[in-house]
Amino acid sequence: MKERSSFSGRVGFVLAAAGSAVGLGNIWRFPYLAAKYGGGIFLLVYLVLVLTFGHSIMTMEIAIGRKTKLSAIAAYRSLHKGAGFLGVLASLVPIIILPYYCVIGGWVFKYLFSYLTGQQAAMAQDSFFPNFISSAHPIVWLSLFVIVTFLVVMMGVKNGIEKANKLMMPLLVLLTIAVAVYSVTLPGAWEGFLYYITPNFKNFSVTTILAAMGQMFYSMSLAMGIMITYGSYLKKEDDIEKSVHQISFFDTGIAFLAGAMVVPAVFAFSGGDQSKLNAGAGLMFQTLPKVFEAMGMARVIGIVFFLLVLFAALTSSISLMETVISFVEDRLHWHRKPACCLVGAYALVFAIPSALGYGPLSGVAPLGMSLLDFFDFISNSVLMPVVALLSCLLVGYVLKPKVIIDEVTLSSRFRSQRLFTAVIRYIAPVLIVFILITSVLSAMGILLI
Ligand code: PHE
Repeated sequence: MKERSSFSGRVGFVLAAAGSAVGLGNIWRFPYLAAKYGGGIFLLVYLVLVLTFGHSIMTMEIAIGRKTKLSAIAAYRSLHKGAGFLGVLASLVPIIILPYYCVIGGWVFKYLFSYLTGQQAAMAQDSFFPNFISSAHPIVWLSLFVIVTFLVVMMGVKNGIEKANKLMMPLLVLLTIAVAVYSVTLPGAWEGFLYYITPNFKNFSVTTILAAMGQMFYSMSLAMGIMITYGSYLKKEDDIEKSVHQISFFDTGIAFLAGAMVVPAVFAFSGGDQSKLNAGAGLMFQTLPKVFEAMGMARVIGIVFFLLVLFAALTSSISLMETVISFVEDRLHWHRKPACCLVGAYALVFAIPSALGYGPLSGVAPLGMSLLDFFDFISNSVLMPVVALLSCLLVGYVLKPKVIIDEVTLSSRFRSQRLFTAVIRYIAPVLIVFILITSVLSAMGILLI
């Protein structure tokens, strides 16, 4: 068998995994969920889930990858003959996410372009975003995003992007901190900041856990085989647990800052109108232009900010596209170039309905959701929990947690070994089954929660 290439070291691994993890999930998705699902209580549930579930599942996936030295589908099959279907199920997740991820990536492109052409005053108006997404223009921008992702993957200049990202990511953190500090000090924003960080149990419901759990899988790039693939490149002497802590610290830190940038500003600009918190997917795009305008130099800040976000989004979309391509290569035995073209064309075509779901196709509303929300719901709130549940059952009962523990302890002590076993065997399965049943029933309108 061909020797598998490895990362140059643990740092390279952490950066690559963080590149996949940190993306639109942190900057676009986290703030609107936090705003919608109760602020501080969402934040608290999210943190608890990351520290328990997130850490355990990420450790499990990386260890499976390093142990088997295979990517998702083959890795599951090699662990257990009957588990191959789990790999297939996991591969469905990036197939569903990729197209609509490109739609949001396209929105970022549009915003970058609008700042470049000096439209900052118009962008700060309430009507700018709704006018944009209800038109057919998003198709142009998502195409641009797909094409850029495709070219990077096809021409193999991924490393260049990842190198650039090493510079862009720290800059993004600095700019996000600056904007967050400014946002919190806007008149009227403090109340919003308190809403964001103080858990209020009145706002708690099963949907809070469901939304936080879906967000955790999405943001940490879990339950879709990606971390298995990354783990397969890791060397036997590299500390898995430490890597997991670093990746999740980075991922959660950026999400927290993005929330601090967006949520308080919603209060400031609406005069404390809480209903504005329900804006959903467009929240960041509607709020930030106003913050930038209030900061002065909106054009410069807007250009720099959306450029940085674009880079973070690209490293994630590249990792999504790569995963789908490797699926086509492995399963259909296609060569790389045609596989790239197939996946690129797929992303382009299947993104279009999601892009039009806020305008021409707004009449198509499965489960009462816009098309983009629907795909997002199916992947994050249904498929990912199912994949995570089955992986936990496989490792917890069929293979036994010892398989993972032995792999982790090859390179270091496994400090949270007990927590890991408890999460994989008991906590995760029970919670996921409960959440899945309630969420599906409520989405079908059978149960009101
Ligand atoms: N984790 C990425 C983000 O937060 C999204 C992503 C999901 C990337 C799945 C790869 C795979 O934006």
